[in-house]
Amino acid sequence: MGFKEQLDINKLPQHIAVIMDGNGRWAKNQGKIRHFGHESGVLSVKDIVEGCADIGIKYLTVYAFSTENWNRPAEEVNALMELLISTINQETATLTKNNIRLNAIGDIASLPQKCIDDLKSAMEKTADNTRCTLTLALSYSSKWELVTAAKKLAQQVIDQKIKIEEIDEKSFAAQLTTFDMPEPELMIRTSGEHRVSNFLLWQMAYTELYFTDTLWPDFRREDLFEAIVDYQKRERRFGKISEQLN
Ligand code: IPE
Ligand code: IPE
Ligand code: MG
Repeated sequence: MGFKEQLDINKLPQHIAVIMDGNGRWAKNQGKIRHFGHESGVLSVKDIVEGCADIGIKYLTVYAFSTENWNRPAEEVNALMELLISTINQETATLTKNNIRLNAIGDIASLPQKCIDDLKSAMEKTADNTRCTLTLALSYSSKWELVTAAKKLAQQVIDQKIKIEEIDEKSFAAQLTTFDMPEPELMIRTSGEHRVSNFLLWQMAYTELYFTDTLWPDFRREDLFEAIVDYQKRERRFGKISEQLN
């Protein structure tokens, strides 16, 4: 029996976050340049997005480029930006056909202008799609996001729009880039690295973490379903004890 058949469709996570890692090593294993791995990784993104939409996952958030990734060699950064632009432009029609909304989080203003424009246009074209929201984390880091949220709240206090006493978890979360999504129940990281690399630190406070040695360009929907089956076997206690749960 495949993993898809083992899924309990009544216990699906609403939101899955993915750290897509291992493109460079995948290419190197085959004696190819790193960029070949990034290009191949796009095929995995496509398959996972469709896999999510197929089974009814409402939100998929993928870490595509971190704030720290700006520190890679300029050649790789430029190639990644080019790949981002070409992928967005090639895939918008398919997203629309599949009723998938494109969203982006991160310091989008720091991206090249062409990227910003094409991203904005693709987001507008898919804005009314309802089956699944695909969020690209671009020039994203959680520390950047948290500092930005703190600044916004400080400004609202100065402008007397809110009182300090009104700052709580709910009003804080409303300032985050993920204000309109539920927190991810499951986070998948490929390539055998066991870390969160500055991704969704607030939002993953109670997320189930799943690590696989599979490199991102080899990851396909069957691997996604395997991760969800693993997630569905876990008991999420949120501080309580087993006996308190139904
Ligand atoms: C993930 O693959 C893609 C990005 C971070 C953009 P890597 O490029 O990090 O691949 P490895 O980790 O070097 O194998
Ligand atoms: C994390 O991958 C960022 C993305 C997947 C975009 P990295 O490969 O950059 O992570 P570290 O630096 O090795 O933790
Ligand atoms: Mg990596």
